[in-house]
Amino acid sequence: MTSHTLLQASANAAQEMPFEDFIRKIPKAELHMHLEGSIEPEMMLALAARNNIALRWRDAQALRNAYTFVNLEDFLALYFECCKVLVTEQDFHDITKGYLQRCATDNVIHAEMFIGPQTFLQQGVDIDTLMRGVLSAMRDAQRESGVHSGLIISVHRHRSEADALAVLDCIEPWRDQVAGIGMGGPEVGNPPSRFARFFAECRRRGYMTTVHAGEEGPAEYVRQSIELLRPDRIDHGVSAIHDPDLMRLLRERNIPLTLCPLSNVRLNVVASMADHPLRRMLDEGLFVTVNSDNPPYFGGYVNENLIAAQQGLQLDVEAIVQLAKNSLQALFIRDSTKSRYLQKLSQFVALRNVAPS
Ligand code: HPA
Ligand code: ZN
Repeated sequence: MTSHTLLQASANAAQEMPFEDFIRKIPKAELHMHLEGSIEPEMMLALAARNNIALRWRDAQALRNAYTFVNLEDFLALYFECCKVLVTEQDFHDITKGYLQRCATDNVIHAEMFIGPQTFLQQGVDIDTLMRGVLSAMRDAQRESGVHSGLIISVHRHRSEADALAVLDCIEPWRDQVAGIGMGGPEVGNPPSRFARFFAECRRRGYMTTVHAGEEGPAEYVRQSIELLRPDRIDHGVSAIHDPDLMRLLRERNIPLTLCPLSNVRLNVVASMADHPLRRMLDEGLFVTVNSDNPPYFGGYVNENLIAAQQGLQLDVEAIVQLAKNSLQALFIRDSTKSRYLQKLSQFVALRNVAPS
C-alpha cells in the first residue's frame, strides 16, 4: 500500500458511520415545506397565548394527539384552523427562524419554503407584516448559521384564479426576494386547468413555478399540470406511478418531483411506506426528491422522511446520495451556486464509509 492509499484507508476507517448518521449528515436541500405547517405544538400554544387567541387544546400533548388524519381535506381543516395564531411580524419571524434552525441541525444547506398569504390576508394580517417577518428570519439564519433559503409564495386552488392573480400584485414589491410561486390546497375537484392564466402570468413576471399535483388527484392532474401550467417542478406527483406514458414524459422533460413520504403515509395517499412509489420512480430514473411537507403534523423533518423511506423501501447508499444530489439540482437558484453545493456533497461522500447496518 502506498502512503497515499494508507492515509486514505485510515481516513475512511475514521469516518465509518452508521447509515442513519450518514443520512442525517449528508448535505441536502429541502424543496417542499409549508412554513405555516412547521409550527411545533409548543410554539403553537405560545403564539396563541401571546396573541390572546383561544385554541381547542389544553396543552402541547393534546394538540399532538390531534395529528391523525383520514385524508388531505381532514388535515387541511386543522392546518388552516391553526393559522390563526400567526398575527404579528415577530410571529412570522419566529416560525421561520425555528424551521431554519432545524435545517442547520439537519444539514439542510438550502431550504425553499412555501407560505400561503391568502390565509393571512383574509385574517386581516397585511402583506408587509408577513413578508418582513419571514424575510428577516431568512437573512438572520444565513448570517448566524449559514443556512441559505428561498421563499415560495403559494396560492390556494380552492379559491378563484382572480384571487391568485391579486396575490401576485400584492407581492410585487418583493419580486426580487421571491424564489418562485406555487399552488396547494384541496386537489380533488380543483383541477389544474382552472389556473392556466395564472401560471402564464407568473411566467410573464419572471417567476419560477411549482404546483401540487397527483397527491390525492389522479395522474391526469399531473399531465394537465405539465401541459397547461408548464411548471418547473411538481409537488408530490405520486399518482404518476399509475401512468407509464406520464412517467416517460416526466423523465424526458426531467421535471423534479418533490415527494413527501411521511405526508403520504399520514394522509393515506399510500397504504404504507413499503407501498410508496419513491423507489420505483428512482429506479426508473425520475428526478425525485424527498421532503417533509408539514413536519410536526406528519411526524418528521426531512431526515426522518429519508430514514423512514430508506427503511421502508430498503434504499441503499447510492439511492440516498442520488436523492441528496437531486434535491440540490432541483433548487430555484443559479447554476454556479448549485455547482458549489454539489461539490460540497461530493466531498462529503468521498470521505465517508457507511458501516453495514
Ligand atoms: N397538499 C395540498 N395543500 C397543502 C399541502 C399538501 O400536501 N400542504 C399544505 N398545503
Ligand atoms: Zn405540500
